[in-house]
Amino acid sequence: MAYKLLFVCLGNICRSPSAENIMNHLIEQAGLSDGCADPKGIHILCDSAGTSSYHIGSPPDRRMSAAAATKLGIKLRGRARQFQESDFQDFDLILAMDQENYENILTLDQTKQYHYKVRLMCEFCSRHTLKEVPDPYYGGQQGFNQVIDLLIDACEGLLTKVMSYEL
Ligand code: 4NP
Repeated sequence: MAYKLLFVCLGNICRSPSAENIMNHLIEQAGLSDGCADPKGIHILCDSAGTSSYHIGSPPDRRMSAAAATKLGIKLRGRARQFQESDFQDFDLILAMDQENYENILTLDQTKQYHYKVRLMCEFCSRHTLKEVPDPYYGGQQGFNQVIDLLIDACEGLLTKVMSYEL
């Protein structure tokens, strides 16, 4: 069974590509990547998108890439794309980085039939109490480092839940 996760922020160049790449890193560490389903048969696929069109086609922000390299030793892959309505059908779970992203996604689901798929990323944190992943774009490097710490926590919680069918 494939379980598809979509991480969503505003620009798809800072928070959501980090979440996608961190999740793929954890999946790889757990031995669940490259089509290797776990013994229960769960195969997790990750993607990311932005609610805005500002940075379509751009690679991840270099300050975000620097934080991911320093704190986790991973390279951020991917190019920005905009969230589209077909994503509601195509993904099992849509993870919004902050409340504004969450509301913007729900607004696009006019029939409300997919609201149950949309969650806030910080719901899955166990060591951090912040309710949103803060937008680091106009701040300093410390904000980008904090995004990585929060996303490691949230991605670990999310992976545990997916693997135990608690979603
Ligand atoms: P992200 O960060 O939503 O985490 O990718 C941002 C990227 C760009 C802008 C804002 C936030 N911007 O205003 O261009």
